[in-house]
Amino acid sequence: MTLLRVEDLHTHFIARNLDNEIQVAKALNGVSFSLDAGRILGLVGETGAGKSLTATSIMGLLRPPARIMGGRALFQGQDLLAMPDDDLNALRGRDIALVVQSPKSSLDPLSRIGDQLIRIRRAHRGGSVAEARDKAIAMLGSLGIPDPARRMRAWPHELSGGMAQRVLIALALMNEPQLLIADEPTTGLDVTVQAQILDLLRDLVRRTGIGAMIITHDLGVVAHYCDEMAVMYAGAIVESGPVRQVFRRPTHPYTVNLIGATPERLRLGATRTVGGPPPNLRALPPGCPYQDRCPQAGADCTTIPPDVALGEGHVARCHRVAA
Ligand SMILES: Nc1ncnc2c1ncn2[C@@H]1O[C@H](COP(=O)(O)OP(=O)(O)OP(=O)(O)O)[C@@H](O)[C@H]1O
Ligand SMILES: [Mg+2]
Repeated sequence: MTLLRVEDLHTHFIARNLDNEIQVAKALNGVSFSLDAGRILGLVGETGAGKSLTATSIMGLLRPPARIMGGRALFQGQDLLAMPDDDLNALRGRDIALVVQSPKSSLDPLSRIGDQLIRIRRAHRGGSVAEARDKAIAMLGSLGIPDPARRMRAWPHELSGGMAQRVLIALALMNEPQLLIADEPTTGLDVTVQAQILDLLRDLVRRTGIGAMIITHDLGVVAHYCDEMAVMYAGAIVESGPVRQVFRRPTHPYTVNLIGATPERLRLGATRTVGGPPPNLRALPPGCPYQDRCPQAGADCTTIPPDVALGEGHVARCHRVAA
């Protein structure tokens, strides 16, 4: 069952420069993907590709000068982008939860973590403080936090990075969401803690059947924990499909470049194919966003490439593949 379907999402940053000229940075340029219940989707791409912006656009958390210019984000069939603010607020934190990229700064420094957990539960689900407290303690325990009842009284500044990340995940899960979006949930944590947290997330998805999207620039995380993947470049998905298929047969030249650079493939003799500067979102060429860095670019790349189906849900957006 499709839980989330994002269709042709465009988000721009529109601002005036010092000369009062309007400047448009086209940060998302037609992002489309879908996520089924019970599955984990990995969204990958280099820094600035638009991964976090995709999440905040879907969640209705954009701030000016960012503006959604078009597209739909259907959650259980309802378009989040067209929903009245009150309805979206009710969904967010309850049916859809986002774990943001910087854990420390997103905990309320002035509240004990137990109070934060209790508050989010009661804001969306009501019930007594005692019920919410029991739920919170159980949640911390299920996330592998030792002595959870005592931890409820901790302040955010007392937590290690790994602990803060678990608390954020606990906050996201307190209302039993259907969809969890986790933005770099383990970046900066040591590998042991990273594996613990990702194991927990995977178990949760398998046990409860929720859908999860993990945003990461770590292909190892995608290979080990995700079912599907979507590769993002300059605000567009250039390749997507089941993780096995995409790793076995990376097809878009950008994916080839990205996957070619992983240690496993380097051992197999693959090399990085191109370098070059990151794309300028204020002056993207028409057509394929990767054309300036692509070793296979040709004259036809100035028109938007088709999404070419490669079988078993594997799709690449590239003229060379189509040819
Ligand atoms: N106020 C702004 N004005 C113009 N462009 C902006 C603004 N804020 C962000 N951007 C651009 O939006 C693009 C998308 O940013 P986003 O944070 O989604 O990247 P990301 O893929 O999450 O990267 P990272 O891996 O570093 O987290 C970036 O290229 C960034 O430069
Ligand atoms: Mg980001």
